[in-house]
Order: sequence, then structure tokens, then C-alpha cells
Amino acid sequence: MKSRIPLSIAIAAATLVTACAQQRPATTMKEAARDRFLIGTALNEGQIWGRDTAGVRVVRENFNAIVAENCMKSEAIHPERDRYSFDSADRLVEFGQENGLTVTGHTLIWHSQLPRWFVYNDDGSLRSADELKAIMKEHITAVVGRYKGRIKGWDVVNEAIMEDGSYRRSPFYEILGEEFIPLAFQYAHEADPDAELYYNDYNMWFEGKRNAVVKLIGELRERGLRIDAVGMQSHMGMSHPDFAEYEKSIEAFAAAGVKVMVTEFDMSALPTAYVGADIAAGNAEASQALNPYADSLPAEAYEAWHKRMEQALSIMLRHSDDITRVTFWGVSDGDSWLNNFPVRGRTDYALPFGRDHRAKPIVARFIEMCAEKQNNE
Ligand code: G3I
Repeated sequence: MKSRIPLSIAIAAATLVTACAQQRPATTMKEAARDRFLIGTALNEGQIWGRDTAGVRVVRENFNAIVAENCMKSEAIHPERDRYSFDSADRLVEFGQENGLTVTGHTLIWHSQLPRWFVYNDDGSLRSADELKAIMKEHITAVVGRYKGRIKGWDVVNEAIMEDGSYRRSPFYEILGEEFIPLAFQYAHEADPDAELYYNDYNMWFEGKRNAVVKLIGELRERGLRIDAVGMQSHMGMSHPDFAEYEKSIEAFAAAGVKVMVTEFDMSALPTAYVGADIAAGNAEASQALNPYADSLPAEAYEAWHKRMEQALSIMLRHSDDITRVTFWGVSDGDSWLNNFPVRGRTDYALPFGRDHRAKPIVARFIEMCAEKQNNE
């Protein structure tokens, strides 16, 4: 005969199970930071199409947000005026939906990875202001419109401002002046009124750039345009940024009334001091100096990297009321663009997951830091 469990005991047991589950220590960055910010990563073609099975496993287990490393850039998604190429972007968005991940669109208006037809006529002259406006509108309407309701937010404009605060002399600027930025935000909002809209840039810790971005936020808002967050790419190295300046920028953007997103976080472990004019010489000695850890990262170098990562992550945690997402630029070390920049063919160690797809100790440390913060609150 089956014995029935009294309801009161069943409820008590269920409560206990729930309580234990709540107290179970987080084992991944996304769990540890779940009450703070999203933890994201950028997907390459191998991950989007599932060829990189180890990488896909890391994504599913550790991240709750994704962004396209390349496939949504205008050159990739809109190679000719009358031809779009949505396959990879569609697959990325499906992957996000299948796995319950927040998807960010990267990027609508960027001077790089930009097909020539977008800004130049067949004879090589710059397009007129009216033509460029029409093309921007077509592009943004088609791309944002296609993923309406499925992409949480867009990097609307990427890298338009220089470190000294001046505008980059891109074809967009040459043709439309500063106006191309509000136009891009306007077109994106019209294409998906519910999507969040971001301005995204690197080296955001430079005072000139910081002030210009704060000014830009104000100008967009004054015109009644939507801007939800500023993306601080956060490509860091062993000697940059100055963390005090980095923190000032987070504070300045938050004070300007937007959220902050760390959108392309990585930290090169390689010596930046060697990067410069010497690269052009390309001699064997220089190559070896520029790629000192071709086989593995020595313990001392890892320690230094770990320490700087810890400093960066602690700043992000300290500002978690203002930061809504921290996205790493790539899944594992082998995927990082830094293996080919600023010198091709180097071996860098810039991400929290190694070439073997194992979590580095910084992952456990970050989880611990989240718990420490929780305990101190
Ligand atoms: O797609 C071609 C492929 O057909 C060809 O065989 C191969 C040979 O080199 O090149 C492939 O294109 C490369 C592309 O990445 C896809 O792998 C380009 O050469 C290469 O320049 C491109 O680099 C990307 C770079 O942006 C330029 O778009 C990096 O992967 C990507 O990590 C990087 O990401 C940018 C952000 O979008 C904006 N912020 C800076 C960040 C780092 O540069």
C-alpha cells in the first residue's frame, strides 16, 4: 500500500528545498551577478552555427547575454544596396531565443566594416546628404525592423568620437556633420520603439571623449530622442586604462541620466610597450618580443593579469546600480580579436575562459566577489 505524505510535511519539504536552492552558492558568473547585471559574450561564426561545440557549451553554461562579434555589421549584413545577408544574424537571434539569452544588436552606423556603396557613389565621390540619409534609413529600418521585439537593444552609433572629444572625420561626418548621430537614433527608434538604444565607443576613459559623450547624451535628450545607455567597450591592457579615469567615466555617464554597459570587455596580457613603430620593422627579434607567451602564460604574468581583471571587475561591481550588462568580447582566448591586433598572429590571454575552454581562476574570484558584496549589503 502506498503511504501518502501529509500536505503540511510536503509544504515544509518544498520550502526547505527552495531555501537550499536559494542558498546554493553560485557556480557561474551569470548566476553570481544575476541581481547586478547581465554577463554577456560576443559570438563568432563558429559559435553561431554550432561548429564550435565547446564554445557553445561555455556560452550556454556561463552567459545570459549575447551580441554578434561581426555578422550584424553593415558590410556583413548589407553587402550591396539591394542585397541583405541575414543568415548568420537570424541564427544568432534564434540561438538567443532558444537559450533565453538577452540579445544585443551590434552595430548600425560605424565607419569600419562599412561597404563602400553605403557612403560613396560609383564614381568614388561622396554621396549627397539626402542620399546618405535615405540609405541610413533604409538600412536601419530593414535591420532593426527584422528583429523587432527580439533584440533588446542596439549599438546605434559606434566609435564616432575621438579621444580629444572631436568628431571622427568619418564619411558619415563628412557628409552630414554631427547630425548623422541624432538621425541614426531617430531611425532606430522609429523601426522598433521598444528597443533600447546605445552609443558605443572605446577608450571611454579619456577626459575629452567622456565630456563629448556626456554632451551628446544631453543633445539627444534635448531633442526628445531615446538613448538608454552608453556602451564602454573596455578593451583593456596591462597598462591601460587608468582605473580612476575609467571610474570617472562610469560616474559621468550615469550622472548624465543613462545606464552604462561594459560592451566589449577584454584585457590583453601582452606587453603593449612593444607595440608601436617597431611592428612595421617586423624582424624576428621584434616578433618574439611582441609575442612573448606563444606557448603559455607564465604564472607571474597570469598573476598580474588576474590582479588587473580583479580591479576592473570590482569597479564594475561597485557601480552595479548603474551598469546593466558586462559583455566579454569573445568566448575563449582562442577566439579573441586580440590575437591579431595590433600585431597579427600573436597568442593573447585576454578572456576569462582559456583556449581549453576552462574557466580561469578569475571566474571563481568574480563569483566570490559577488558573494562578498552581497554579504556586505
Ligand atoms: O570574413 C572574412 C573572411 O571571409 C576572411 O576569410 C578572413 C580572412 O582574414 O577575414 C574575415 O573577416 C575578418 C572578420 O573579423 C571576421 O573574422 C576581418 O578580416 C577582420 O578584420 C574582422 O575583425 C573584426 C573587427 O572588429 C573588424 O570588424 C574582429 O573580429 C572583431 O572582434 C572586431 O570587433 C570590434 C567591434 O566590432 C567594435 N569595437 C572594436 C572591436 C575590436 O576591434
